[in-house]
Amino acid sequence: MADTPRSRSLTPILAQLGLIALLLALPFIAPPDGRERASIAQFFGRFHPVLVHLPIGLLLLVPVLEIGGLLHVWRHLQKTAGFVLTLATIGAVVATAVGWLLAWSGGYEGETIMDHLWGGVWLSAACIVLTWFRHGYMAGEGYLFIRLGYMPLLFATIALMSWTSHQGSVITHGDDYLTKHMPAGLKQFLGLKSAVPPAKPAAEPKAGVAAEPVPAAPSFYVEKIAPLMEKHCVACHKPSKIKGGLRMDAYELLMEGGDSGPPVIAGSLEKSDLYRRITLPTDDEEFMPTDGKPALKPDEIKLIAEWIMAGAQP
Ligand code: HEC
Repeated sequence: MADTPRSRSLTPILAQLGLIALLLALPFIAPPDGRERASIAQFFGRFHPVLVHLPIGLLLLVPVLEIGGLLHVWRHLQKTAGFVLTLATIGAVVATAVGWLLAWSGGYEGETIMDHLWGGVWLSAACIVLTWFRHGYMAGEGYLFIRLGYMPLLFATIALMSWTSHQGSVITHGDDYLTKHMPAGLKQFLGLKSAVPPAKPAAEPKAGVAAEPVPAAPSFYVEKIAPLMEKHCVACHKPSKIKGGLRMDAYELLMEGGDSGPPVIAGSLEKSDLYRRITLPTDDEEFMPTDGKPALKPDEIKLIAEWIMAGAQP
């Protein structure tokens, strides 16, 4: 077999290009469309949140080893960096493939899911390209942009990884997970919304009237209805799982409704599809919540009825 050095070195590159093409095609060929599939696919898919942390840790280690390795006494670290980058790349590809399996089979859909999936796909591609750049960087030969481009590409890849992991954390924890308990001063400094509304300036004291500002009491919806929806419904009606096109994680979105229009019609239990569904016989196909999840209790249903009859206010 005439195996020239050139063709020998080209084969792995072609294989890696093929892998990148396959990863890029995944979201087109089999996008997460909100349908659930074979439970064996879901079984493997659910390892994604466990697996994903390995390449994250490894990739973060690469610049530490590269920069440490620039010091004469730590020269040996540079060799390790290449090995760690290879492991991180394999980990990223596997975690992305398993993540796609979870999204595709586990009934996920929506913008955050797609952002996260694309993030994983591009990140895996970037890691593969990064291993090529590192080759040129270490050999000190070949195109100048490859030799000089390795470090900037490494940091750009880590930035992409941070963004992608953040999308993942929004899917599992909601988008205020990191900031919810942040000290108010720091929140203000970062320009984030504060959960606690700023104190209203005290009203001018009028003669004979106490100047106590009356704090607005939380509404019936906020206090009673939203927690009910959160407990029984939001798991399937949220940004990453929009069953029936309906989101129930915010008042406005709930009232806007899904594929069959607004599910809540103020003042009418008969016209409110939401009320109809929660009061159907539990074995009815349209009964909510689906999938054998426990039905709402009679007093919970009564609260929802009261809220709808009283005008379904926010
Ligand atoms: C286990 C997942 C799941 C849970 C939990 C769930 N739903 Fe649903 N919901 C679905 C699916 C799937 C559909 C779409 C199929 C259909 O229309 O029956 C849907 C559709 C709907 C629709 C119709 C949307 C439209 O415009 O077509 C309403 C209203 C609804 N759900 C209300 C609720 C309420 C209220 C709860 C909580 C008590 C709830 N759902 C909990 C899965 C779920």
